[in-house]
Order: sequence, then structure tokens, then C-alpha cells
Amino acid sequence: MSAFPDGYGVMVIGGGAGIGEATARYLAAAGVAVMVADRDAAGAERVADAIVAAGGRATGVRVDVTDPETLAEALTAMLGWNGRLHGVLNSAGIQGPLGRPSHEVEIAEFESTLRVNLTAGLVIARELIPEMLRHGYGRVVHLASIAGKEGNPNMVAYSASKAGLIGMVKAQGKEYAGTGVVVNAIAPAVIRTPFLDSQPAEVVDYMVQRIPMGRVGEPVEVAALAAFAVSPACSFTTGFTFDASGGRATY
Ligand SMILES: NC(=O)c1ccc[n+]([C@@H]2O[C@H](COP(=O)([O-])OP(=O)(O)OC[C@H]3O[C@@H](n4cnc5c(N)ncnc54)[C@H](O)[C@@H]3O)[C@@H](O)[C@H]2O)c1
Repeated sequence: MSAFPDGYGVMVIGGGAGIGEATARYLAAAGVAVMVADRDAAGAERVADAIVAAGGRATGVRVDVTDPETLAEALTAMLGWNGRLHGVLNSAGIQGPLGRPSHEVEIAEFESTLRVNLTAGLVIARELIPEMLRHGYGRVVHLASIAGKEGNPNMVAYSASKAGLIGMVKAQGKEYAGTGVVVNAIAPAVIRTPFLDSQPAEVVDYMVQRIPMGRVGEPVEVAALAAFAVSPACSFTTGFTFDASGGRATY
């Protein structure tokens, strides 16, 4: 039996690459109608087309997760296309300034990283959660990071933004507990995606050395967890950050 009822619809923001793409494909294979939303419109369309070619239901749209208007337009498109929005996976994220200690980081680049990785959680709440509250049902899942739990050196904006996101999810989980809307996060350690390709080798080594399983994670391993977290089965967990770190974080 599928874990998803007929007509179940999920918007995957940041679905044009990496973990978001893997989750969009995973959900579509389980029968979910997937709106692939990404700042990179061509990436979103590429993933949606591949899902449709494989026999699934998907549509691609351009969304900038920091821009409320594009999210409102995507919601209207989702409702026109599928009738309902049951879940949102927010996999949009940027690394921000890398390889420099805090005293060499510009405030503007710090704040622009927070806007994508943290403030977007509020934008999503404002633009998408009201529709879920209207139906008394919703699943919201954000991609946080091990960096938000432990703090990666020379990634201060990224670490702070992900720690903030974990705190936001804790608050929102309690705010909406009892409404049928649950809000959770996933904190992966290093996962094999295009995100990783742009990291300096020494940063990747630093991260892999700290993973007891001694390897990077695969996108599909996060996708399987994300698919559970956006499914009806995730009914008694909210405000929580699931781990996907190969044993690095056991808390
Ligand atoms: N890959 C890893 O090792 C790793 C580890 C921990 C956490 N994460 C987190 O998981 C999430 C996904 O990472 P990934 O590795 O798949 O990254 P990725 O770079 O492969 O994909 C991210 C996608 O988000 C999109 N995006 C970026 N900014 C956006 C915006 N403002 N609006 C809409 N879309 C936007 C990009 O176009 C891209 O398609 C990120 O939040 C990242 O911080 C990744």
C-alpha cells in the first residue's frame, strides 16, 4: 500500500538539484503529485520533465524562496494543478561565505545567507501554512544541517543560519501542534550533491572524518527520510530535527 493517498500534493522547493531533486523523484515514484520549484527554472523543468517521462505527475515552476510573491504564485499554480497542497519540502539553500573566519566575513554576505537559509522559513510559513491550516492538515519539512547543530569553522553564516532554522522549526512545531500541521527539519552531514562539488577538498575531508560511517551520504538516503517526514505517517512528530549524519550526531 502506498504511504500517500491519491491526489497527495507536495511542493519541493529547491527541487531542481541535489537533495530536493532526489526527493521529488522519490515522492513521484510513490505516486505523489510533485511541484518542482526552484530559483533555477531550467533545473525545475528538467526534473519535472524527467518525472513525467518516467510516468509520474510533476510540474516545474520558478520560485525564489526569499520572495513571497513567487511563493504565492506557486501556491495558486499548485491549487489549480492539483487542487491541494499537502506538504512542502524546503531544500533551497546556499553555502554563503566559505573558508574565512568570522572577523573576515562581511555583514552583507552574512545577512544574504540568512535570508535564503533562515528567513525563507518564515516566508514559507506566511505564504503556505495558512492554506494548510484551512484544511487542518499539512507537512512542512526544512533542510537544516549538521553545521547548525555543531558549527562548522569558517562557515559562520551557514552554521548560524542552519542553527536558526532548527530553532524556528522548534517554535513552529509548538505553534501549530494540534492544528494538523506539523513542521520538522532534517540535519544531514555531508551528502553527495552539486553543493558538495563546490566545497574545497579540505572542507569535505574535515566533514567526512567526523562521520563514524566514514563516507558521504547519498541524496536518496535523505530523500527516503524526507518522504516519510512529508507523509501522513509523520503524525506524532513536530518541531523535531531528524538526523541524517552517518552517526556523527546522535542527539
Ligand atoms: N549536500 C550536503 O552535503 C548538505 C548537507 C547538509 C545540509 N544540506 C542542505 O540541504 C539543502 C539542499 O542541499 P543540496 O546539496 O541539494 O544543494 P544543491 O545546491 O545541490 O541544490 C539546492 C537547490 O536549491 C536551489 N536554490 C538555491 N537558492 C534558492 C532560492 N533562493 N530559491 C529557490 N531555490 C533556490 C538551487 O537552485 C538548487 O537547485 C540545502 O539547504 C543545504 O544547506 C546539504
